[in-house]
Amino acid sequence: MYQAAPNLSRTPSAYFDEEHSADVVNGRMGQDINPRLKQVMSVLVKHLHAAVKEIEPTHDEWFAAIRFLTETGQMCNEWRQEYILLSDILGVSMLVDAINHRRPSGATPNTILGPFYVENAPQYENGANICLDGKGEPLVVAGRVTDISGNPIPNAKLEVWQTNDDGFYDVQQKGIQPDSNLRGVFTSDAEGGYSFKSVKPRHYPIPSDGPVGKLLGAMGRHPNRAAHLHFIVTAPGYEPVITHIFTPDCPYLPGDAVFGVKSELIADFKKVDDIDAARAVGFEAPFWSVTWDFALAPTAKPQRTIA
Ligand code: BEZ
Ligand code: FE
Repeated sequence: MYQAAPNLSRTPSAYFDEEHSADVVNGRMGQDINPRLKQVMSVLVKHLHAAVKEIEPTHDEWFAAIRFLTETGQMCNEWRQEYILLSDILGVSMLVDAINHRRPSGATPNTILGPFYVENAPQYENGANICLDGKGEPLVVAGRVTDISGNPIPNAKLEVWQTNDDGFYDVQQKGIQPDSNLRGVFTSDAEGGYSFKSVKPRHYPIPSDGPVGKLLGAMGRHPNRAAHLHFIVTAPGYEPVITHIFTPDCPYLPGDAVFGVKSELIADFKKVDDIDAARAVGFEAPFWSVTWDFALAPTAKPQRTIA
């Protein structure tokens, strides 16, 4: 039997119009879909449409944005993740990290992982020197891993990595720096203690030869990261800590290109100009020394994921 076509002109929001654009798009989603995906997509569409309405881009501007995203994707390879870099410079990586690591007071805060972490770095005894290229100002790093009440955590794993004195990670300069220069894995002792030798870190630029670097420049921003050492500290029963410690004298502390600085992570690097103290650690005077303790929070509840 003949059925009249539904009169869509009477159905509010069935067709696209400028005023109701986000509702029209979101109204097309099915009923039986993953509820988290539904929430994520409807929020994204709502805010994306609001941004486009506020910006009112010309077609040329819209295509420039598409070109930027295309070039960002084309820059990605095994060693370079330009989208993560984009998320980093927009503060999104730090925001996602903050939302997912709301720790009890006294626990060492997280900060950005960055792209230069390498699994299975060389394992060293406490006290070893991870600087293999001999460049830079010598540094001794020592401290303890504890729980948030100050009880020692023995056998915690501490992974550390940093740039060399020229401002590059070993993996950025394969064949120029020794492999695994300035990275290593240490284990806390019975009192939770750890120690190693290295060099005082310096500020360095994030990779800025791609679309994200161009965008930073166009926004009048510099690409520099405040001087830091990276750490991942893990122990069974505790939340892993992915963090940095920062030198207090770096001019880029307040302007860190990826918003990675937290005041609680600025350490007290001391210059030691004492021949006996230097001899005791196998350095010549002067050298730098920093004491840094990590406080781990108990393991948190499992996190939500999109199926
Ligand atoms: C880093 O600290 O290694 C880093 C973090 C974010 C972007 C680029 C580098
Ligand atoms: Fe870094």
